[in-house]
Amino acid sequence: MVTPLNIILVGASGDLAQRKVLPALFSLFAQKLLPAEVRIFGFARTPLTDAEFRRRTAEHLMCRYTPEAHECATMTEQFLARCHYVTGEYGKAESFLDVAERIQQVTGRWDGDRLFYLATPPSVFLDVARAIGNSGLVTCDDTESWTRIVIEKPFGHDRASSDELVAEFGKVFTNEQTYRIDHYLGKEVIQNLLVLRFANRIFEPIWNRDFIRQVRIVWKETLDIGNRAGYFDGFGIIRDVMQNHLMQMLALTAMERPDSLAATPIRDEKVQVLHAVRPVELEDLVLGQYVAPVGDSAGRKSYRQETGVAPDSRTPTYASAVLRVNNSRWKGVPFIVECGKALDEQLAEICIQFHDVPHNIFGDALAANELVIRIQPDEAIFLRVVNKAPGLKMRLETTELNLRYRTAFTGVIPEAYESLLLDVVAGERSLFIRADELAASWDIFDRVLHEIDDRKIIPEPYLQGSRGPNQKTGTGK
Ligand SMILES: NC(=O)c1ccc[n+]([C@@H]2O[C@H](COP(=O)([O-])OP(=O)(O)OC[C@H]3O[C@@H](n4cnc5c(N)ncnc54)[C@H](OP(=O)(O)O)[C@@H]3O)[C@@H](O)[C@H]2O)c1
Repeated sequence: MVTPLNIILVGASGDLAQRKVLPALFSLFAQKLLPAEVRIFGFARTPLTDAEFRRRTAEHLMCRYTPEAHECATMTEQFLARCHYVTGEYGKAESFLDVAERIQQVTGRWDGDRLFYLATPPSVFLDVARAIGNSGLVTCDDTESWTRIVIEKPFGHDRASSDELVAEFGKVFTNEQTYRIDHYLGKEVIQNLLVLRFANRIFEPIWNRDFIRQVRIVWKETLDIGNRAGYFDGFGIIRDVMQNHLMQMLALTAMERPDSLAATPIRDEKVQVLHAVRPVELEDLVLGQYVAPVGDSAGRKSYRQETGVAPDSRTPTYASAVLRVNNSRWKGVPFIVECGKALDEQLAEICIQFHDVPHNIFGDALAANELVIRIQPDEAIFLRVVNKAPGLKMRLETTELNLRYRTAFTGVIPEAYESLLLDVVAGERSLFIRADELAASWDIFDRVLHEIDDRKIIPEPYLQGSRGPNQKTGTGK
């Protein structure tokens, strides 16, 4: 008999659940990648009937894998029929027993695999975990049927709070049951990094300090903080983006070759390289906070004017830092990481810049070769090379050998959450953050974050829509 899968989506009324998780589940369902007996139980405080929950859910579903109208309608109807909703309190075991009772009513069974997905603000993570534990819904032995829990970053706000969260979660869920998501790891181009590095003979021999001058990892958004101010003001851009997304990108770029693609060797290598990163010091950092141009006709706001932000807030909305990876592969190569909101462009990429040719016979200054792995706005991998521009004279030009995903690959490119959710259901852990990996990436920033707070460092203002603060990070010490 097929084991039923019951997905309990906690915080189902919210943005993440509605915009990302439910559409991803729908995509997997439409491709028949979920078990036949799957049910989704939305759970939150907002009172909703099943019909209202389904109506809200339907607004965000897209038939990317079943575009034909008839097939799309059928799939949508079948999926929504498997969505249910329970109103409850996050910290109450009784509320989760209500969920269990609902599962029993709907499926006629009380057993089955249980996947809890925490799509709530981090302030209630522990309440939810403890309530689930107290309700007795967590299986002790996962051989017959399993329990898994998925949580999204932020995992704490510094090393100590992250350790505490890990320890407290550990009282309810085992390490094997806990899946910590950094959704960047589910992105196609990021998953391609290991393939690019280790399935192509040409890269590994030059992937080191002898050939590479610097690595830049950039994450820029044009959007300002919008309605996320309440959350963001307590965290800031280092905790929101740099400590997690950018450190994952750095780890995959800089790590050694794992022995295999199994979760343990991959995560061991990531931890090892994160341990080799020298903790950031204040002089390695540039911090910024966006301001609106005076009399801005577009009506844009300064960060301090956003609803929910204190008028004297010192929270950085931009940060750049020079990181050093102290091992024999990377000694002396700066890893420049930069992230910010309300900037001039929407961009996430890793740029590997190579050294100049040792002897230039062409006279003209030669641009350095660059390998760019672009995650946003459209996935691409390209190599900037110097060429002779066609013509009767010797004129050099830098051009791109270009792999744009949208044109190179014909199939639908999966969303990050599709890939990650499929792995959770399959029990495949390599794309999830292990506790020691989390600790290692906090260690890179922990001291400097406390110093920024203690010394009340004021970020440099930068104009909305600009490239960030004037003072840019150099290549550091
Ligand atoms: N949104 C994204 O794209 C995104 C991306 C990456 C990571 N995340 C992370 O995913 C989690 C959920 O994000 P989200 O954007 O979906 O959050 P959200 O919409 O603010 O919150 C989700 C739900 O939690 C409940 N809630 C809101 N504030 C609460 C509070 N102060 N106390 C108790 N319950 C509260 C609300 O449901 P009820 O009032 O109905 O209970 C809300 O619908 C967060 O940890 C976030 O950092 C989100």
